[in-house]
Amino acid sequence: MTKRSYFTTPIYYANGRPHIGHAYCSVLTDTFRRYHALFGYETHFLTGTDEHGQKVQKSAENAGVSPAEYVDKMSQAFRDLLPDLHVENDDFIRTTEPRHTEIVREALQSLYDKGDIYQNQYEGWYSERAERFWTEKDLVDQKCPETGGPVERVSEKNYFFRMSKYQPQLIEHLEKNRDWIVPASRWQEVRSFLENPLLDLSISRPKSRLSWGIPLPFDEDFVTYVWFDALLNYCSGIGLYRDDQRFQTWWPHANHFLGKDILTTHSVYWGTMLLALDLPLPKRLVTTGMWLIDNTKMSKSLGNVVDPLSLGDKYGAEVLRYFLMRDIVIGLDASFSEEAVVRRNNSDLANDLGNLLRRTITLVERGFDSKIPAPGPSGDEDAELEQLINAVPRVVEEHIMSHRLHDAIEQTMQVVRAMNRYIDHTAPFKVVKEDPARAGETLRHILEGLHVVANLLHPIMPEKMNELLSNLGCAGPVKTAQELHYGMLEAGTPIKAGPPLFPRLEFEAPPESEAPPKKAEKKAKPTPKPDPGDGMASFDDFLKLQLVTATIVTAEPIEGAEKLLKLTVDAGEESTRTVVAGIAKSYAPDDLPGTSIVLLANLQPRKIFGVLSQGMVLLAESDNRMVFVQPAEALPTGAKIR
Ligand code: MSP
Repeated sequence: MTKRSYFTTPIYYANGRPHIGHAYCSVLTDTFRRYHALFGYETHFLTGTDEHGQKVQKSAENAGVSPAEYVDKMSQAFRDLLPDLHVENDDFIRTTEPRHTEIVREALQSLYDKGDIYQNQYEGWYSERAERFWTEKDLVDQKCPETGGPVERVSEKNYFFRMSKYQPQLIEHLEKNRDWIVPASRWQEVRSFLENPLLDLSISRPKSRLSWGIPLPFDEDFVTYVWFDALLNYCSGIGLYRDDQRFQTWWPHANHFLGKDILTTHSVYWGTMLLALDLPLPKRLVTTGMWLIDNTKMSKSLGNVVDPLSLGDKYGAEVLRYFLMRDIVIGLDASFSEEAVVRRNNSDLANDLGNLLRRTITLVERGFDSKIPAPGPSGDEDAELEQLINAVPRVVEEHIMSHRLHDAIEQTMQVVRAMNRYIDHTAPFKVVKEDPARAGETLRHILEGLHVVANLLHPIMPEKMNELLSNLGCAGPVKTAQELHYGMLEAGTPIKAGPPLFPRLEFEAPPESEAPPKKAEKKAKPTPKPDPGDGMASFDDFLKLQLVTATIVTAEPIEGAEKLLKLTVDAGEESTRTVVAGIAKSYAPDDLPGTSIVLLANLQPRKIFGVLSQGMVLLAESDNRMVFVQPAEALPTGAKIR
C-alpha cells in the first residue's frame, strides 16, 4: 500500500515581513517532508499566507495602501523566502484566492443549513481604540482598561458556531488518539483545557467594523472571523468540495506543523469545525516552541526581529537550516543568536564533517589516484564502524517518525564523530607508506560512512549534501533509505575534492549602535554581589528611583506572552497605570486584584507585547517563582519607599 504524508505549515499573517520564526516553521516542515520521502512516503506540502482580518486591514491602512495591494506584496515576500531557504513546497495558498474563499463560503453555508451556526445578539462595552469588546468587570473607571479611552455600550448581532456541541466528540477523539498532538505535554494541555465547558465561537464580524474578509454567504453584512477562514486552507488547498479524489488522497495523512501559540485554534476550533463538517480530523498536530532572542519573544517594538534572508546571505541557507533544526527540540523554546549559528557551524559542520571529508579525499587523491579503494577483510574496529553505519538509517527513521528530529541529527553526527575517532586511530596517513592496501580499506570504510551520512542529512541540507555526494562520485542521493547501506560505493570510481564544504565562520559582534537591546548582559550577572568597580550604584543613582506602594486593580493575561500579565495598578495618582509583569507562572490573574505591591514609578514607559508598560513591579525570584515585594504593613497607595 502506498504510504503517504501531507504536510502543512501554518499560513503566515500577511501583515508584516517574514522573520526567523516563520523561516523555522517552513524549514522544519520541509525537512520532515524530505525525510518522509526518503523513508518511502509519497508527500504533499502546502504552505501559504493568511490575508484577511483586522491586523492586515490595519497594517494596510498604516502603509497607506489598499488591503489587496498590501497583501499582494507581503504574500510575495513569504513566497520568495521559500526557495531562498531551499524549501520545496508543492503548493502555496493565499486565503484571498477564489479557490479558498469559495470553499469557506460553502463550508459556512453547510454549517448554517444544518443549524450549527446561529445568530445571536452580543452585548458589551466596545472600545474603538482597542477595537474590541470588554465586559463590565474589565473596565477601569468605566474606561477601556487597555487604552484608557472611552467605551460605548454596543449591542450587536453576531453569528456563532456551536462549538460546544462538539466538545464531547473532541474529547473522545483526544482520548482515543494520545498521539494526536505531539509532544505529549501539549496533548495534556489541550485535554485539561477541555475540562471546562466550551463556549460557542463567534465567527462573524460586522462589515461596518471590518470590511476585509470573506462575506458570510447567508448574511452579506458580515465577514468571516479570520481563524474560521484561515484554518480551512488545509482542506481548500487539496480540493475539498472540488476534487474528491485529490482530497481523499491527502487529507487522511495530514500533519499540521504549528507553533504552541496557535495550538488551541488548531485543536479546539479546527477539531470541532471538522467534526461539524463531517470530515475526519487531521492525523497529527506537531506543536513547536519559539525561538527567543536573549530569552525574550521577538517583537517589532523591542527591535529584536531577526531577518532570515540576511542571515541566509551571511552564513548560507543550509548552515542556517542545520542550525534551526539542530539547536531546538520540537515543542521547546530555544535561544537564537548569530554567535550560536557560527559555533554550530564550526563544531559540527566545519570541524566534524567538513574536515573528515577533506582529510579522507586528500588521502585518496594522494595514495589511490583519486579512486575509491577496494574493500578488504574487516577487523573488529572496522566491523564495529560498519555496524554503526548500517544501523543508523533505521535509527534515524524511528526518531523522525516519533518527531525527535534533534535525536535523529545527533545519532547521525555520532557516526561522523565515530569516523573521526576511527581515522585518528587507524591512521591511514601513516599506514599508507607500509601497507597501502590496509590504508585503502580504512579509507573505504570512511567513504561508505560519509555516503550514508550525506543521504541522512540530505533532508536538512540538500544542496550541501548533493555536493558531498558528488565529491564521492555519486550522481545524487538514494531514492529511499531502504536501499541505504554500507557497501554501496564502487571501487575505482573517481572522486574529487571540491571547495571546502563548510568553511569556518567568524562571529563578528554588531557595532553597539546596531545591537538590539541586550538582555543577555543582564543575564550574565544574576548574582547580587556588589561590584566594587563601575557596577556600584551611587546614592544619587538610588535617589533617582521613585519607588512607591501601589495596589493591583485588575490583572489579565497577554495574548501570546505566556509569562506576562497585564496589570492596572493604583499608585495613588489621578488615574491608574498599566504595568506588564512577568508573573503569569506564579500568580493567577483572578487572585491579584487588591494585592499590595511596590512599583518603580519612574521607569521609562516601554511597549511590551503591544502593551505600554508604565512602570515596573518589584519582584523577588526564588526557585523560578516570582514573588511580590510588599510593605510589611498595609499602607495607603503612593507611599514613598526610601
Ligand atoms: N496566521 C496564523 C496561522 C493560521 S494557520 C491556519 C498565524 N500566523 S503567524 O504568522 O503569526 O505565525 C505563523 C507561525 O509562526 C506560528 O506557528 C507561530 O508559532 C510561528 N512563530 C512566530 N514566531 C515564532 C518564533 N519566534 N519562533 C518559532 N516560531 C514562531 O499565527
